[in-house]
Amino acid sequence: HYVDKGNYRHFMQKEIYEQPEVLSHTLGAFVDMTTGRTKMPKGQDLDFSKIRRIALSACGTGYYAALVGRYYFERYARIPCDLDVASEFRYRESPLGDVDLAIFVSQSGETADTLASLRYAKSQGLKTAVVVNVEGSTMAREADVVLPTLAGPEIGVASTKAFTCQLMALASLAVRAGVDRGVVDADEELELTRVLAEAPRLAREAIHTEERIEALSREMATKRHALFLGRGFSFPLAMEGALKLKEISYIHAEGYAAGELKHGPIALIDDTMPVVVIAPHDRSFEKTISNVQEVAARGGEIVLLTDASGAANGPVEGSRCIVLPKMAEILTPIVYAIPLQLLAYHTAIQMGTDVDQPRNLAKSVTVE
Ligand code: G6P
Repeated sequence: HYVDKGNYRHFMQKEIYEQPEVLSHTLGAFVDMTTGRTKMPKGQDLDFSKIRRIALSACGTGYYAALVGRYYFERYARIPCDLDVASEFRYRESPLGDVDLAIFVSQSGETADTLASLRYAKSQGLKTAVVVNVEGSTMAREADVVLPTLAGPEIGVASTKAFTCQLMALASLAVRAGVDRGVVDADEELELTRVLAEAPRLAREAIHTEERIEALSREMATKRHALFLGRGFSFPLAMEGALKLKEISYIHAEGYAAGELKHGPIALIDDTMPVVVIAPHDRSFEKTISNVQEVAARGGEIVLLTDASGAANGPVEGSRCIVLPKMAEILTPIVYAIPLQLLAYHTAIQMGTDVDQPRNLAKSVTVE
């Protein structure tokens, strides 16, 4: 099928802008929007009540989605999770012990290492599920349970809308799992799905940061390195933000757990190092800010992604803020992903790289 860029300059930009709409479609697969109750997607059956442990695995951006997924399942359903990149999972031959379910995350449903991991899990007698964007893909055919993201075709090599839809699917599923296990009661279920339904509006507001981000990207494009920091739900996002930047702008970037800063990366900080900090005003905000003070004290250039209370409570000397609306914790990974995508996108444009077809990368890697 032919997909058109329409009035957008790149597929990546178009796909960033589609997020409000496709997030809403994806939510609709997991939540009955009239009753506010979670459900399994049509024709799929999965009961979390007896699952003792989940093994998650994926490659690339899907891996960072799975990392957020682990935080979701542990927080909202109290199910312990293991997590591996698929190329390690398949060869590590870890004793699977009390793992009852393996969940794979893949946009294409064809990535060789993820597919091999799925087959390995099946051969070990595990129940398998795949969070997948391409209907009829190999993984969608082979997994026991298909958890669709309804992001529509994604053409840009750097994943954007598929990522946020993966997060939406995993968040709804974690709430569902919490209900199955009696960890989330009926009122909490309604409250969480009400919150999830705000994602499209908040995603739209996040897209409105574009002009401000574009201005910042002019400076980012003069750098050779960048550091991304986050704690808790924002830690996987720090890694995804760094991945986006390196994929399309070729600027070397690393994502780190904010608490690990003092164990190495702080040695890299000088007045030429930009540090992007993902810090919604949540339970880990104060801790993250104290890490950021250490960056500021060494002259690092800080860009703080936060909300109004974060901007009011954590002004760090010389830092610049991108202010997003206040939102419930479950939504922050979905919404904060958007300014990170825009930052990578606009930096790449400044650098003059081929945004939709970055060098050396493929949309889908079907070889080991
Ligand atoms: C490639 C793509 C990435 C993607 C990864 C996993 O490396 O360039 O954007 O995240 O494969 O792909 P999948 O289709 O399994 O999500």
